[in-house]
Amino acid sequence: MMKEKLLKIKEETLAQIKGSKTLEQLNEIRVSQLGKKGALTEILKGMKDVAPQDRPKVGQLVNETRAEIEKVLEESRAKMEALVRESRLSAETIDVTLPAKRMKVGHMHPNMRALQEVENIFVGMGYEVVEGPEVERDYYNFEALNIPADHPAKDEQDTFYISGDILLRTQTSSTQVHEMEKGKLPIRMIAPGRVFRSDEVDATHSPSFHQIEGLVIDKHVTFADLKGTLAVFAKELFGEDTKVKFRPHHFPFTEPSAEMDVSCFKCGGKGCRFCKGEGWIEILGCGMVHPHVLEMSKIDPNEYTGFAFGVGLERIALLKYEIDDMRLLYENDVRFLNQF
Ligand code: DAH
Repeated sequence: MMKEKLLKIKEETLAQIKGSKTLEQLNEIRVSQLGKKGALTEILKGMKDVAPQDRPKVGQLVNETRAEIEKVLEESRAKMEALVRESRLSAETIDVTLPAKRMKVGHMHPNMRALQEVENIFVGMGYEVVEGPEVERDYYNFEALNIPADHPAKDEQDTFYISGDILLRTQTSSTQVHEMEKGKLPIRMIAPGRVFRSDEVDATHSPSFHQIEGLVIDKHVTFADLKGTLAVFAKELFGEDTKVKFRPHHFPFTEPSAEMDVSCFKCGGKGCRFCKGEGWIEILGCGMVHPHVLEMSKIDPNEYTGFAFGVGLERIALLKYEIDDMRLLYENDVRFLNQF
């Protein structure tokens, strides 16, 4: 009776094992047959109803059944695990004969390239690179640069005001004032940075662009130093054969003031499409620091003189890399950036 019951349990269980397809199913069988509430355990619990002399025999039978089920379970588990591993390995096979995918590497923005070139030139001449704030008080952007409240230059540089006295700087020249205020002389600095003007966007304008300011203050600095320095800058940036030309101009913070042109590095000065037939290309504004500007920043103009200049970074990048629309510099189209 007991023997038949056990045999039935064994056969049913082995059939279940045979029919199972996953490790989870095998585990369920183990729990339902061999676990605490499993069929075999139930039989062991019923031993008290078995005649005492039959108990060892029945016990042995249960143990044998249990051992056999365990053995088959274990074999099936091993087989199934091997299958799982094999199918995973074959799914993860790497075909080493496939062509490699090209890795995408980032490109330097033309502005950044131009800035590094300019910085390298001036750092090579012993200049320090400094930065000033983009949000300024009227004083730093205008007043301390000799641009009083009613000066027409304030209209020329259409300004974004944040509140009455606070504005987005329209020029990096504000950095000159911060440097002079530090009271450490001599000064030999360039200051790159973003500037803002309420301009409409077109091929040559943007409400936000970049300038690089230059300032040198020391004893006995003359206009000859300005010319020599900026001529070296032009040659290093545009090539050894580059000639420079200074045209008188007006800036409130310099006296005398000038604009510097470079000979067209495309045609060498003969005149071409690139320089619009002029042979010359305007590059920057410059001049000798106005004595009043020195005084306002507590520098004695009788002891110290200086020169300053301001360059448009986008202008340099457009010229150097022959880009004909400034908007390309801001759109960050990778098809454009990829070329640099
Ligand atoms: N700040 C001027 C501008 O935005 C450029 C400039 C001209 C800067 C002459 C200078 C300078 O330092 O000396 O148009």
